[in-house]
Amino acid sequence: MSAGEIRVAINSDQDIVSARQKGRAMAAELGFSTGDATLIATAISELARNIVSYARKGQITLKTVNGLNRQGVAVIASDDGPGIRDIQQALRDGFSTSGSLGLGLPGVRRLMDEFEITSQPGRGTTVTVKKWRQ
Ligand SMILES: Nc1ncnc2c1ncn2[C@@H]1O[C@H](COP(=O)(O)OP(=O)(O)OP(=O)(O)O)[C@@H](O)[C@H]1O
Ligand SMILES: [Mg+2]
Repeated sequence: MSAGEIRVAINSDQDIVSARQKGRAMAAELGFSTGDATLIATAISELARNIVSYARKGQITLKTVNGLNRQGVAVIASDDGPGIRDIQQALRDGFSTSGSLGLGLPGVRRLMDEFEITSQPGRGTTVTVKKWRQ
């Protein structure tokens, strides 16, 4: 694990809070505005919440990333849970298999600048998102 990389094991509600706090701290350290640090922290919460709800356990990795002329933060949420059969459906506002609001993944997509999701049914899910500093 290189410098500027933090891994948080996600097993419980407390781990969600902890990942959120670490993400906010990393964003602040990188010079993100308070508002953008809050958006990043919110995205981390949603992804970590999905891990606890659907996969029971997994991890969140936070990384600083460098573009040609910019710096940002990457959040990688991964688990070995049940996976998502239909990703397009999971990304739709209001779709939920747990009777929740179904706004987590589409919300994260809107909050962040880059969004990638890969999932294999029965194998797990990885969501990678990035936000660049203004
Ligand atoms: N890590 C995951 N593993 C398996 N399924 C997932 C995972 N994350 C999301 N999903 C599936 O995608 C659906 C949509 O996720 P999303 O976060 O948008 O909504 P939600 O969790 O159902 O509700 P909300 O986040 O608004 O409380 C979930 O209902 C679930 O079926
Ligand atoms: Mg959710």
